[in-house]
Amino acid sequence: MVKSIILAAGKGTRMKSEIPKVLHTIFDKPILGYILDAVKNSGMVDYAYVITGHKSEMVDGYVKENYGYAETILQNPQLGTGHAVSMAVGKLQGYKGEVVIINGDTPLIKPETIKSLVISHRENKSDITVASTILENSSNYGRIVRAADGAVEEIVEEKDASTEQKRIKEINTGIFCINWDKVSRAFSELKNNNAQGEYYLTDIVKWGKENGLKAGAYIIEDSNEVLGINSCKQLAELTKILHDEIIDKHLSNGVNIVSPDTTWISPETEIGRDTIIYPNCYISGQNKIASNCKIGPFAHIRGGVEIDEYVKIGNFVELKKAKVKSHTNICHLSYVGDSEVGANVNIGAGTITANYNPLTKVKSKTIIEDNVKIGSNSVLVAPVRIKEGANVGAVGVITKDIEPWSLAVTRAPLKVLEGWVKRVLNK
Ligand code: UD1
Ligand code: CA
Repeated sequence: MVKSIILAAGKGTRMKSEIPKVLHTIFDKPILGYILDAVKNSGMVDYAYVITGHKSEMVDGYVKENYGYAETILQNPQLGTGHAVSMAVGKLQGYKGEVVIINGDTPLIKPETIKSLVISHRENKSDITVASTILENSSNYGRIVRAADGAVEEIVEEKDASTEQKRIKEINTGIFCINWDKVSRAFSELKNNNAQGEYYLTDIVKWGKENGLKAGAYIIEDSNEVLGINSCKQLAELTKILHDEIIDKHLSNGVNIVSPDTTWISPETEIGRDTIIYPNCYISGQNKIASNCKIGPFAHIRGGVEIDEYVKIGNFVELKKAKVKSHTNICHLSYVGDSEVGANVNIGAGTITANYNPLTKVKSKTIIEDNVKIGSNSVLVAPVRIKEGANVGAVGVITKDIEPWSLAVTRAPLKVLEGWVKRVLNK
């Protein structure tokens, strides 16, 4: 297993945002999360160091909460990508294996690509392997300069490149695999005598040549995988690329997506065949939707949702952390969160699970057992359990558990004042 260093200290000036660039989200998951997942899922890496700088407390918090296999290291001030990697030298003292270095702003990188990079590095017995790709418009990227025999000589940044070098279409993706025991010394020897006055990670290639090491490139075929995010426009473009891939995957698995352009499905959502997704649904986070369900139009599924077969989730229904068993209908205008809903349940229009107490900030669970029927416009105030087969009359405000097969009614009795309208109108 190898180690990874993820560069995430940059401010991301072009995002024009107070939020650090790597915490901007795609389907509510930070860009950095995509990288950490890809690195982990490559199956090659057992530990990652995330280099943080700008608003590091925010990035630290995110990593600590979500990634047990990673820790953060502060880089302050930020003097370039080579300087960023040097921050991990102390932590990796004595480590003799390979290190995968990766920019924190390329969220579409696939786990298999990281795996192939490490395998190619090993097969070629290289000390430094840079992952490159071919771009028709290579401007702003570092260019891979090769010798006449094809050997990788150096990487030249846009701002330092000659007119001739600027024509090169093979670029540095910002992903490297290096033999740490041989290359780590470079990070105390890099110079910043370049156009940006920074310590460039890219200079390790030239340094390697000068120190008798073997450097090569691994070419990534699908350049979409390594597009970087530097602005909100690019964030939206990458989101669309990911969206198209996800929709294609579900369509080819037999999911019926009526309107691909208006349906948004997160990468961590599984959907069974013959499920129909009607237009304008937004599905984020981790979810499992079984076969033969009907979802939408205009449904919002926010993560932690598991839906069994033959369930209907209708228009303007929002689900969050909810398990819904088979043949249950939640068809109109409802919010169901932090809930377990049994089989053959009918939830009437406008039903709300009141799961959050804003004073105590505590979230509680609602449990609705099999065969329960909830009347329209009811509020189920959690924690609460509606036991098997119980009925809640329309406009029920349910604040305690309801026993099996009972009817719970909380509304004021209906009063009818006959002729009242005529009297008011003096007719
Ligand atoms: C970098 C590469 C370039 C490559 C491109 C690919 C260098 C010198 N250039 O350029 O060859 O084609 O990525 O996308 O490496 N960062 C730090 N600390 C710093 C500076 C940067 O952690 O002091 C982080 C940033 O947060 C970012 C990553 O390193 O995630 C890359 O930095 P960025 O400024 O975006 O580099 P590019 O100009 O895109
Ligand atoms: Ca970049």
